[in-house]
Amino acid sequence: MSGDRILIHEVVTRDGFQMEPEFIPTERKIELIDRMSLTGLAKIEVTSFVSPKAIPMLADAEAVMAGIQRRPGTRMVALVANARGVERAMATGVDEVVLVVSASESHNRTNVRRSVGASFEGFREIVDMLKGTSIGVAGALATTFGCPFEGFQPIERVLRLVGDYAALGVRSIALADTTGMGNPRQVREIASAARREYPDVDFALHFHNTRGMGLANVLAGLEAGVGRYESSLGGLGGCPYAPGATGNICTEDLVHMLHEMGCETGVDLPALLDASRLLAAIVGHALPGQVVKAGTSRDLHPMPAPAH
Ligand code: COA
Ligand code: ZN
Repeated sequence: MSGDRILIHEVVTRDGFQMEPEFIPTERKIELIDRMSLTGLAKIEVTSFVSPKAIPMLADAEAVMAGIQRRPGTRMVALVANARGVERAMATGVDEVVLVVSASESHNRTNVRRSVGASFEGFREIVDMLKGTSIGVAGALATTFGCPFEGFQPIERVLRLVGDYAALGVRSIALADTTGMGNPRQVREIASAARREYPDVDFALHFHNTRGMGLANVLAGLEAGVGRYESSLGGLGGCPYAPGATGNICTEDLVHMLHEMGCETGVDLPALLDASRLLAAIVGHALPGQVVKAGTSRDLHPMPAPAH
């Protein structure tokens, strides 16, 4: 594990912002993304091209994409749920679109108002639309590690849905723990089985820290050989269509842990901590992230003078 290269996908401006109560002005979103793209993150999920009625916070997706600076080494990606979203995303020059479907029927119907089968039918059209373009396509599988309405999904079902993505030619798949129900043992089991059954697929893991298991789940993912993780600056995040959903795992805490373990991420941690402070100023409230408050494990303190 030490010496491994781990890639970090930042999702705060999509997953994090969609839960914020106050609309965040477009120029502040752009300012934050520009700051984050200086830190060496492999991917930034900039926004989503979904219905503005469903997610009003991200109604400015076009303006955000048009305003951000593009830097080599950081792929700018956006979440989409239907062909209309892909058309909008394509017009803005995204590097990659991320499709989303849930492992559970009930969460999929709540989130995108259709059955899991209908979502995959729609994806076929989307994959065709993207053929011959330079835009990549990734797939997210929400509620992989548990659904707030139905509970835990059988592993066979999760693997079958990974297979449905793979059958469409989607080779980059994020297994997502939408409401933080997963535990490390289960993550190791599902991630290992997925890698074993689909060796051609490049898996990412997307965790929420809803029940405090987020970074433990990353460790389980590392042990299963997964090299890509999705996290949110400051630990902001959630899903408006999943009761009780709270923050994603915190990017700077994740990067700090990985660096302390001897893994490489290519991310500049001090710059990331600065970006996290900017984020706190933008949202105007404290964030769950811990390293920004405690300092890194390398920031030592002067020893108190001995008492007489
Ligand atoms: N971009 C902009 N507007 C869109 C759109 C898109 N990609 N897709 C649909 N719309 C609009 C339609 O024009 C329509 O608007 P109108 O009411 O003014 O006519 C309205 O949204 C409903 O369209 P419809 O095709 O009937 O969709 P729906 O009501 O079945 O909802 C989704 C399906 C997928 C569009 C919607 O559920 C959605 O956007 N969900 C977002 C899920 C999400 O982002 N969750 C969090 C991340 S996991
Ligand atoms: Zn999420």
